[in-house]
Amino acid sequence: MKKLLILSVATVAPLLAQVDENISIPYVDFPMVKASGVATYQSSCIMCHSLGYIDNQGLQSKAFWRGKVDKMIVHFKAPITVQDADTVTNYLFKNYGNGKLK
Ligand code: HEC
Repeated sequence: MKKLLILSVATVAPLLAQVDENISIPYVDFPMVKASGVATYQSSCIMCHSLGYIDNQGLQSKAFWRGKVDKMIVHFKAPITVQDADTVTNYLFKNYGNGKLK
């Protein structure tokens, strides 16, 4: 019984130890272009991942952005209405587009 008590104290004690270090997590800001449609973008697209996913794609065609928006809805079940999907696609194409439709 005594052995069991020592064993359980030895197992639990490290879990209760306090971490006495300063931990700082870097904040990475991805500012979006403030233009018509940005509010819809923000309410539709930043609940699962950062805006960095857009920046990382580079400037793309309208079909590309449409495909990404549709992919989010179909594969990842993003809760976005058809109207908001159109608004977001237009916003992305206008501000993160290469001018080509396809
Ligand atoms: C329900 C969650 C969810 C929402 C809402 C969401 N996404 Fe995503 N998105 C994901 C997941 C999951 C990935 C894949 C992440 C990975 O592979 O690391 C992703 C990846 C991406 C990528 C990277 C390229 C790719 O094809 O994987 C882009 C671009 C993107 N999302 C754009 C958008 C846009 C634009 C919206 C708003 C219309 C949006 N996302 C909303 C879940 C979501």
